Formats: sequence, structure tokens, C-alpha cells
Amino acid sequence: MLYEPAHAKINLFLDVISKRPDGYHNLKSCMQTVGLADTISASLRDHPTGQSIELTCSNEKLACDRKNLAYRAAEAFFSAAKIESYELKMHIEKRIPLSAGLGGGSADAAAVLRMLNKYYDFPLSTAEIVEIGASLGSDVPFCIHGGTCHCVGVGDILTPVLTQPDYTVLVAKNGEGISTPEAFSLLDQKYSDFTNYQPPEHDRIYEALSCGNVHALHNATYNIFEDVIFPIRPESKRLKEFMLDRGAICAQMSGSGPSVFGIFVSDARAELCAAMLRQEGIFAVACRTVSAKI
Ligand code: C5P
Repeated sequence: MLYEPAHAKINLFLDVISKRPDGYHNLKSCMQTVGLADTISASLRDHPTGQSIELTCSNEKLACDRKNLAYRAAEAFFSAAKIESYELKMHIEKRIPLSAGLGGGSADAAAVLRMLNKYYDFPLSTAEIVEIGASLGSDVPFCIHGGTCHCVGVGDILTPVLTQPDYTVLVAKNGEGISTPEAFSLLDQKYSDFTNYQPPEHDRIYEALSCGNVHALHNATYNIFEDVIFPIRPESKRLKEFMLDRGAICAQMSGSGPSVFGIFVSDARAELCAAMLRQEGIFAVACRTVSAKI
């Protein structure tokens, strides 16, 4: 049996620079892998005679066919690695909330690519699996790499950030998920072609990370989506205020929402805050940051 963790990501910094002719947006983002993770378990038959992929998932809301990025990642891997016979059974134990801005689907696809490449003894280079990842979704390249990265382009061009503090992150989500295209279209309505948008200072998150002191992250994080998502998901704004009132150094929405993360120095405070939220029936997990995978 093969196992591969599929870690969630948070965006310490997320800004949109411009809209592209293909409808996508150029971003500047600082992504961080966190301990909250799905698990992919899989088995491959020893002497396969045909081509079959069977996927099951602990969350019945998720499609288990080609609509699932993890399924498409497996297909794309076999095709790129020229593996003609395979009988793969995979199961996703889902813990990352769906449509939450935590990159859950991308994390699963990335984990499948890493797992299969390892199993077959690396027929594809990292650059090749990253290229497959980019064709599946903008966040997949980061999820393959993991750790802390400065991401530009549609989010797929990565520069690893090597110096950073290790800290506790509380991840919480309450209320309906948000589709990424809808969230981007709300930004388009607000900022049109982004020429009149005043971007914040992009470097301050990297200055804060490079000094290695978690307190420096106070006032260094940013997410352009908060302005358009908080009005339609007031619960996300409340989660942010809840964390700030209970000792978070900073708290912010992740990706296009509606999940919110808080950064804590004290594990105990983060755990307490998570327990209080869970008592209200809200999804909340305290975890640590996770370093790069490849
Ligand atoms: O790449 P991914 O499939 O995750 O993107 C989902 C949707 O989010 C895209 O179809 C697009 O509408 C929007 N998007 C965007 N700009 C990005 C990333 C995603 O407009 N950089």
C-alpha cells in the first residue's frame, strides 16, 4: 500500500497584478504549506493487463471520476511516463475543507504525482511533474514543491523562500465554499482592469519572513480577496476578528476564501481558540507550518 500526505496551503500574501487575455489573472503570492492534510492511499497491481484507475473518497460530495483532479493527475502521469499498463486503486481521506481557499484539490493532485513518480522510481523529472501539475491547476505546482514560495504568473512560477520562522497556524472555515472563478469575477467587477488599483508593498512579507521572528509577520500579510469576500461571507470576517482577539499575531483569509488562518506563537492559545470554534460547530484545526517536499 502506498501513502502520500496532501498538505493544505495558505496564502500569507495574495495580490492580483493584472487580468490576462486568457481570462486568468497574474498574481503575486506567498504560499505556505501547513500540517492540515488529506491522505492518499493507493495500491498498484503487480502485473497489470489493462489500464484502470479506481478512486474512492471519504467525502461523498467529491466526484471520483475524471472531474476529480487526483484522477486526472494519475492519468496524466501514466501518459507522460509512457506506462501503458496499470491498475491503480486510490482512496482520498479528505480532511481539507472543499472550496475553502486551502488548495485541497490541488494538494491531492500534487500528492498523486509525487506518489506515482516515486513508486515507478522517478521516470519524470521534477520539472516534468510540475509541468503536468500546471496543466491541471494553478496551485498544483506549489503543492508539488511545498514549503514557502514566492509565486507569480498564474501562481505557477515559484521561487522558494529559504529563511522563515516555524510557527503554529490555526485554520478555520465556516459557511458555504466559494468557487474560485466567482471570487475572481468579484475582483474584476471591483477593479476592472486593475490599472486604478493601488497595490500594497509586496516585499514586506519577505522581509518579515527573512528576519526569522514570527512576530514580524504582524501587519506583513495581505489578501486582496478579503475586500470582496468579507461582505458576502461575514462569518469569515468574524473568524479573523475572533483569532486576533485571542492572541493571533495576524489573521487573514486564505486564497479566495472563505477559510481564515491565524498565526500564533503559543500552541496552547491556538489549540484553545480551535477548541472554542469547534464547540460552535465550526471547522478549526491548529497545526504547524511544513517545509518543502522536493
Ligand atoms: O487554475 P485553476 O483551475 O485552479 O483556476 C480556477 C479558476 O480560477 C480559473 O478558471 C480562473 O477563472 C480563475 N483563476 C484566475 N487567475 C488565476 C488562477 C485562477 O483567474 N491566477
